Amino acid sequence: MSENTFAKDIHSGLSAPFKHISSKYFYDDIGSGIFQDIMKMPEYYPTACEFEILSMQSAQIIARLNFNEPFNIVEFGAGDGIKTRQLLKQLVDKDVDFSYVPIDISKRAIEELEANMLEHLPSLKIKPMIGNYFSMIEALSAAKEASLFLFLGGNIGNYEKDEVDALLTSFQKSMKPGDKLLTGFDLQKNPSTIRYAYDDPAGITKAFNMNLLHRINRELGGNIQTNQFDFYSYYNPTNGEVRSYLVSLAKQKIHLQLIDKCYDFEQNELIRTELSRKYTLKEIEAAATKNGFKLLEHFLDCKHYFTDSLWVK
Ligand code: AVJ
Repeated sequence: MSENTFAKDIHSGLSAPFKHISSKYFYDDIGSGIFQDIMKMPEYYPTACEFEILSMQSAQIIARLNFNEPFNIVEFGAGDGIKTRQLLKQLVDKDVDFSYVPIDISKRAIEELEANMLEHLPSLKIKPMIGNYFSMIEALSAAKEASLFLFLGGNIGNYEKDEVDALLTSFQKSMKPGDKLLTGFDLQKNPSTIRYAYDDPAGITKAFNMNLLHRINRELGGNIQTNQFDFYSYYNPTNGEVRSYLVSLAKQKIHLQLIDKCYDFEQNELIRTELSRKYTLKEIEAAATKNGFKLLEHFLDCKHYFTDSLWVK
């Protein structure tokens, strides 16, 4: 068990007084596939908003970088890269000398991304890296060229407040003066719009959460009867938090064969799965200042649902 972090984290999460499973465990191959489906749902607006920003405003974003060539564009958690490609295309078309450095923990995701990028942008200089953010940030801080760091998609919304500061500070520390950070933040808006995005009538978001239980069964030899669990999600417009849960529908016991452990559930007991925080522009500026950055510009979609916020160290 010692080298299996998934087993360890599930064990500590299901042993806690308030059970929890980290949303980072959504993204095994099956969960990543379900997330692709989420991005195609009409209710899930963030993807289309950020696509619009990067398609329509890349020239403006690039104009604010003010870099001498060559420079790096380093992306954390690159995903399928379709949105980022809109930005890279501008640079490639203008013959700008830069390297694209996507970083992801999944080797498979990185290989697919590289193939896909080169298919559309054959002259792109791409230097993929496999690893977690923190080890890679350190490796990159040695680079002598200036860098633009990308943290897109609203992934920052998954971090609790104290974790956000820890993450931004660690980015800041390994950046050089003049380096830029472009972060995607989902903005507060009509609460119903947000609620539907995270609790869709077709149940795709439910399946995304339920996959955690299936994954436990697959990887840890669990005996969870998944129909004994439901999904519950709500948006609290007074603090900007979408919180998602799995709900035990009965008093029950589950067993994980791999680690030979049992966990008891009361009827209606919750497992916390995900936080997806929605920000105000003021909160974003405060987060920048607090962590040693200066906000340069917000790039918003036309509905003002989402921002890619450009900061400088
Ligand atoms: C990939 C973290 C940006 O929080 O909006 C989508 C994940 N969760 N629907 C988000 C997610 C439920 C998504 N991020």
